[in-house]
Amino acid sequence: MSLGENLVKTTYDHQLSSVDQVHIRWMIRRDMAEILCIEEESFEFPWADTDFTRCLRQRNCIGVVAEISGGVVGYMLYELHRTKVHILNFAVARTHRRLGIGTAMLTKLISKLSTQRRNRIVLEVRETNLPAQVFFRSLGFLATSVLRDFYQDTTEDAYLMHFLAEANEEQTPRRLAG
Ligand SMILES: CC(C)(COP(=O)(O)OP(=O)(O)OC[C@H]1O[C@@H](n2cnc3c(N)ncnc32)[C@H](O)[C@@H]1OP(=O)(O)O)[C@@H](O)C(=O)NCCC(=O)NCCS
Repeated sequence: MSLGENLVKTTYDHQLSSVDQVHIRWMIRRDMAEILCIEEESFEFPWADTDFTRCLRQRNCIGVVAEISGGVVGYMLYELHRTKVHILNFAVARTHRRLGIGTAMLTKLISKLSTQRRNRIVLEVRETNLPAQVFFRSLGFLATSVLRDFYQDTTEDAYLMHFLAEANEEQTPRRLAG
């Protein structure tokens, strides 16, 4: 079982046992109204419809949503690069936070990493966004540098956070041997 699948089993299934199963699938145009509602409630400086469209038009940009009973409860946009995945936007509906949905989406992405090819995930998180920092750290991300004045909308800095597949895969044999 890969690291991603393992995390899904231990965290996601357990916490979501009382609600319908989460289905993670590709984003489609029809999802945009629900995505924009989540975006608005999640960020002080939300993306507009045109920001999503511009991003998704790029050949290497992928959008996924988490769905429960036919309704969108979370989404993630990321870019595929030769050796890394760059998360550009990621949010879970307020009503569905702390249920393991963010973990389910991210562990699915982590399970696609390979030590041979794309071996890391990177993202920028606002220095004031402590919940997101705690969330990413809980999944093995580390803050590796500070990006000064990263945002156009504020004078806030960003933390660059990394998840490395290599480091985690190295831990597996040690656990099995113990
Ligand atoms: C960050 C976000 C995506 C997390 O999604 P989520 O589905 O609520 O996360 P999970 O339920 O999988 O949380 C997993 C763990 O992360 C940590 N965590 C998540 N939210 C947290 C919070 N508000 N405060 C402290 N820890 C938190 C906890 O350790 C949690 O485990 P627990 O609930 O068993 O304690 C969600 O809070 C969100 O949409 N935030 C607004 C948008 C945003 O900041 N996006 C990231 C931009 S970089």
